[in-house]
Amino acid sequence: MKAFVYQGVGKKALETRNKPEISSPTDAIIKVTKTTICGTDLHILKGDLPGCQPGRILGHEGVGIIDSVGTAVSTFKPGDRVLISCVTSCGRCIYCRKQMFSHCTTGGWILGNTIDGTQAEFVRVPYAETSLYLIPEGVDEEALVMLSDILPTGFECGVLNGKVQPGNSVAIVGSGPIGLAALLTAQFYSPSEIIVIDLDDNRLSVAKRFGATVTINSADGKAQDTVMKLTNGRGVDTAIEAVGVPATFELCQKLVAPGGTIANIGVHGKKVDLHLESLWDRNITITTRLVDTVSTPMLLNILRSKKIDPKLLITHRFKLDQILEAYETFGNAADTKALKVIIET
Ligand SMILES: NC(=O)c1ccc[n+]([C@@H]2O[C@H](COP(=O)([O-])OP(=O)(O)OC[C@H]3O[C@@H](n4cnc5c(N)ncnc54)[C@H](O)[C@@H]3O)[C@@H](O)[C@H]2O)c1
Ligand SMILES: [Zn+2]
Ligand SMILES: [Zn+2]
Repeated sequence: MKAFVYQGVGKKALETRNKPEISSPTDAIIKVTKTTICGTDLHILKGDLPGCQPGRILGHEGVGIIDSVGTAVSTFKPGDRVLISCVTSCGRCIYCRKQMFSHCTTGGWILGNTIDGTQAEFVRVPYAETSLYLIPEGVDEEALVMLSDILPTGFECGVLNGKVQPGNSVAIVGSGPIGLAALLTAQFYSPSEIIVIDLDDNRLSVAKRFGATVTINSADGKAQDTVMKLTNGRGVDTAIEAVGVPATFELCQKLVAPGGTIANIGVHGKKVDLHLESLWDRNITITTRLVDTVSTPMLLNILRSKKIDPKLLITHRFKLDQILEAYETFGNAADTKALKVIIET
């Protein structure tokens, strides 16, 4: 089969690999029909995530058709169409029993990281019963690819952790796919104000179309002043960090109102200062989270009822043969205006 392989820092190729086989009774082999590229895949290619070793087939998102199942899998059968979760969960360990699937002791984020992933014709998914979701009739499969990772991430790490409430104010720093997913799902709770901040005007115009009440280009360093004017000097009840650099986490510390919450989503590679000298008396909460994908069943229902349309995030489409071009396009988002790219096998 064809598979996209990380070959070491800055090196990647479409290789021919053997089709994966069932290696444990709880496995399923999926014929991948659609997959995509995540910002995290770009981090791997840059060498930021050394846990992912050269030779690894990348990808942790996608939909497909069950090809075969292990003897312990009874929920799915060959031919079933399924959504693949970016997080694998055994359903039994101490963290899975707490609904903290991201920290599953034998699962978590392993696909396209410590085991071969979805950017291939076939993928082996461990713990199939608890890591796959049957695709309901009538749901658009391209839209569903957004449910493997980015929608639950924006919702769980940003909106749920950020305690977005009706009538409250929200600022989302970062208007990439994750910030936009937080923007779409924050609207479940009818906040009165959703301010989206980024450096890229194209992405800010997308945010406006997706329901941002105000967008701010922070390149001039005046985002804090603008937010304070908009909120009568209070700041926002929820500040969602969806970038992963020190400047944006620091900005969130300046934007949060007394009693508010800073919900961090970004993956941080560098240390960030925590300004307790100005925050100690402000009754704020800071949250961090690796997406657990506990909200996937709820998000599937939302998609089925067409309350949101995550397909709006898809800007480009490629065949698996063109995956190098797809990476090029996704990696140069400022020029190509790419958000999510769909790769069909
Ligand atoms: N916590 C989790 O479980 C989890 C899961 C998936 C992704 N992530 C992380 O979420 C973050 C966002 O992901 P993404 O795919 O949307 O990334 P992305 O790179 O596509 O988007 C980031 C956005 O931030 C903007 N930006 C960069 N520097 C900025 C600055 N100084 N001020 C304002 N805006 C700035 C960029 O213009 C871009 O639009 C990444 O760090 C990613 O690794 C976390
Ligand atoms: Zn991802
Ligand atoms: Zn577990």
